[in-house]
Formats: sequence, structure tokens, C-alpha cells
Amino acid sequence: MADAKEEDVRFEQYKDEGDMPGIISLIDKDLSEPYSVFTYRYFINNWPDLCYLAMQGETCVGAIICKLDEHRCRKTHRGYIAMLAVEKELRGKRIGSQLVQLCLSRMKQLNADECVLETEVTNKGALGLYRSIGFVKEKRLHKYYLNGNDAFRLKYLFKLPEGFREGHGCLGALAEDLADG
Ligand SMILES: CC(C)(COP(=O)(O)OP(=O)(O)OC[C@H]1O[C@@H](n2cnc3c(N)ncnc32)[C@H](O)[C@@H]1OP(=O)(O)O)[C@@H](O)C(=O)NCCC(=O)NCCS
Repeated sequence: MADAKEEDVRFEQYKDEGDMPGIISLIDKDLSEPYSVFTYRYFINNWPDLCYLAMQGETCVGAIICKLDEHRCRKTHRGYIAMLAVEKELRGKRIGSQLVQLCLSRMKQLNADECVLETEVTNKGALGLYRSIGFVKEKRLHKYYLNGNDAFRLKYLFKLPEGFREGHGCLGALAEDLADG
């Protein structure tokens, strides 16, 4: 597979509002129902250092938008990948993987315990990309999307969860309790 560098793609952290139109027009292309600008602002203005762009010249050809906050039940720090997209013509060149890795590295610096996201069960590209990085399927969410499709919740662990050494498995005690019904 060709490396993104061959295409003169550079990776940058979000700088300012001037980056916003490029991000929105890229991500909106892949959505059946575009997000409101307030959704973008919620994530990017609160966690600007968890937003990265792939730039080709002055054009945004890849973007990832994430957040990191405290998990209510477990008091752990949970990263969340809200949006990820790569320009159609440049897919398959590891731009998406590099964007995810940049966010995971930043989350690790910020002491994240885990990172989660949801993706459609039919999204082979996203499922392949996240599996290759080390995400695992945590659960299936029925009719999660407006189009009626199910989602998988995927999870990446930065640290072994509490209870792992006691035999609760890689998803920790809470997930096992939920699975028991
Ligand atoms: C998902 C997406 C971001 C992937 O970006 P990308 O830059 O093409 O992905 P990468 O080149 O980094 O792929 C990395 C790995 O993911 C897997 N993968 C990527 N696209 C794939 C596809 N269409 N089918 C199967 N596996 C795929 C492969 O394992 C690949 O590694 P390999 O080629 O060495 O086997 C891109 O397809 C996209 O923008 N899709 C539309 C928006 C979207 O679905 N976003 C995710 C929402 S959660």
C-alpha cells in the first residue's frame, strides 16, 4: 500500500476557526444528514488538541475529531472518536490510520484509560482500520443510526482495566456485569 507521504500529505493539529470550513465540507460529504455547525464547534472548541487534519496543499483531505472526558461510572478517562474521514480519492494510503494514531498518542499523553467509538456494522473500511490498530468490538447497538442500521461500539485500551487481573476480562468488570443482563 502506498504511503501518504508520497502524495505530499502533511498532518497538522487544528489551529483556528480558519480550519473549520475544510473539515466540515470533507466530513459532510460522507453523511446522509449533515451535522450542525454547533456539533463541530462542541468537539473542536472544547478539545482542539484532539482534532487533526491531513492537508494536501491548502485542501483538507482528512480529518479526525475526538474528545476526552471522565467516564461517570468508572472514574476513568475515556477518549471518544466522534468523526473521521478521508477524501475518497486518497483512501487506502494510511491517512486514516495516521490520523487515528495521532489522536491516540495525544490521548495517551493526557492519561486516557481507553478510547471508544461507534461505527455502522456495514462500514468495512472503518472496521478494518480500527481492527488493524487494536480496537475490539465491545457491543452491538441495535438501530443506532437514523437509517435504522446497527452500530458496533469499538474500544481501544491504553491500560488494563480494573478487575482484569481478577478475571473480569479485557472489558473490565462493568461490561461483564452488563453482559450478564
Ligand atoms: C474509514 C476511512 C477513514 C479509512 O481511511 P483510509 O485512509 O482509507 O484508511 P487506511 O488507508 O489508513 O487503512 C488502514 C487499514 O484499514 C483497513 N481498511 C481501510 N479501508 C478498507 C476497506 N474499504 N475495506 C476493508 N478494509 C479497509 C485495512 O486493513 C487497511 O490496512 P491494509 O490496507 O494494510 O490492510 C475512509 O474509508 C473514510 O473516510 N470513510 C468514510 C467515512 C467513514 O466511514 N468514517 C468512519 C466513521 S467511524
